[in-house]
Amino acid sequence: MGVSSTSLAAFLFISCFICLCPELTLAQNAATGVTRHYKFDIRLHNVTRLCKTKSIITVNGKFPGPRIIAREGDRLVIKVVNHVSNNITIHWHGIRQLRTGWADGPAYITQCPIQTGQSYVYNFTIIGQTGTLWYHAHVSWIRSTLYGPILILPRLNTSYPFVKPYKEVPIIFGEWWNNDTEAVINQALQTGAGANISDAYTINGLPGPLYNCSKETFRLKVKPGKTYLLRLINAALNDELFFKIVNHTFTIVDADASYVKPFQTDTIFITPGQTTNVLFKTKSLSSNAKFLMAARPYSTAASGTFDNTTVVGVLEYNHDIKPFSNSSIKGLALPPLPAINATSYVANWTSKFRSLGNSQFPVNVPQTVQKQYFFTVGLGTDPCPKNQTCQGPNGTKFSASVNNVSFNNPTTALLQAHYSRKLNVLTSNFPAFPLNQFNYTGPPPNNTMVSHGTKVVTLPYNTTVELVMQGTSIQGAENHPLHLHGYNFYVVGQGTGNFNSATDPANFNLVDPVERNTVGVPAGGWVAIRFRADNPGVWFMHCHIEIHLSWGLKMAWAVMDGKLPNQKLLPPPLDLPKC
Ligand code: C2O
Repeated sequence: MGVSSTSLAAFLFISCFICLCPELTLAQNAATGVTRHYKFDIRLHNVTRLCKTKSIITVNGKFPGPRIIAREGDRLVIKVVNHVSNNITIHWHGIRQLRTGWADGPAYITQCPIQTGQSYVYNFTIIGQTGTLWYHAHVSWIRSTLYGPILILPRLNTSYPFVKPYKEVPIIFGEWWNNDTEAVINQALQTGAGANISDAYTINGLPGPLYNCSKETFRLKVKPGKTYLLRLINAALNDELFFKIVNHTFTIVDADASYVKPFQTDTIFITPGQTTNVLFKTKSLSSNAKFLMAARPYSTAASGTFDNTTVVGVLEYNHDIKPFSNSSIKGLALPPLPAINATSYVANWTSKFRSLGNSQFPVNVPQTVQKQYFFTVGLGTDPCPKNQTCQGPNGTKFSASVNNVSFNNPTTALLQAHYSRKLNVLTSNFPAFPLNQFNYTGPPPNNTMVSHGTKVVTLPYNTTVELVMQGTSIQGAENHPLHLHGYNFYVVGQGTGNFNSATDPANFNLVDPVERNTVGVPAGGWVAIRFRADNPGVWFMHCHIEIHLSWGLKMAWAVMDGKLPNQKLLPPPLDLPKC
């Protein structure tokens, strides 16, 4: 459960002591922090949920995976050994990976996968980020069971810009399938239909009492009158979630490991790929009170069905040591959550986020930009292959694209091609604007077929970029959580309908826009972001809804080296996996 700050420090020391084994000593360096070693053995492990035992891919036999705990400024050295028959890579979601793109993890973008029996050491330093991030497998749908939290504490002798929490508790939302998720995605790609939906949502791996034959429920055990820091992560594959605890409120203090101006809410919205830290003040109750918490999806999807179930956990004051059973929470009220399709709640939610923006944590949003891009983001279709029947829209196959280009995975890693200057001209011509313009949020055009390619945008070092991402209504307008690797960006504007380049920029927030790594492109709307291309490498950008990623809603940015030695991508590690 929660760990106090003091015991966190002890935990850090002990966990590193255990995992480092022979080679570890804490390489103490006052200016840059310490080096923390972890070993991730990727192995199968039997887990029972909903009365079904399933062999799942885990880190060290844990589900969700073990916590990584570090301080800002620390270096992490994580040896990943693949003991399963699937290809594996791990992405450290949200870590900036300054000059260390080789450690970023997306398969065929920055590395070839780690094959069975092989290992790879991810080596990177956490710079300028404090809060919660997470790690997950980044190949096919392996991340359905392979994920875990990264807790980043402030540097030694510094503190959070808010009240010191009594305890810190990671709360990770996930999705559970009774069936093998590799079979689920393979079948979907084969038939062209939407993917089969999950059987349950989970909190820290536990589905809670509302599911048939579900025995495992997440319990948040608290003391009265204390302030907790809840570290929320949405690790679900395909679903954006609302979350609420009966009779309690939260104060949001950060998003994607950067501080925000604190604001209060009783209902949280979080997309796959997003993380947020919230302060949670418990009431001064003397009894053994219990309250339910619940999460369920937001969806406007027309692309097949979605899992519209609810995961429930329980908040327990002064919990007794009696063994817990689901019957002990029978009759407790469920928290009322927004309607499944509450698009206006979501728009209002996103607009509440502002950077903390003080002298210690300044806002570095580019005030002018050198390059502007406009990407359409949404679904589309592919023709059905000859001699096959397809189950997508009107007998086609579902697809997805950015500027109508559906991304084909290369067979070798783009970063290696970039480093050896073999990224050819054909690759580096991702369109800056849609080739065909249409009323993006109006009735869909007759032709919804996408094109295919493996294309990147090339950026000179330090280019200031503005990117407007416009959702389309093709096969249904949906909120698409777009995630950029290697960067945080500033969210300078959002709106409904089609972006208007003449009038909308006047309303951009260039004072205190929120800084994140994942932002929703609103259903039937647009979002504008800015960033400075100061991290050389090849950086994936994609929808974090896994089925959309599988359908091709992804592209990459190739950022060139700068002139100075400290502006260049480091050379590849010797153990970088080969394809
Ligand atoms: Cu969390 Cu490329 O993803």
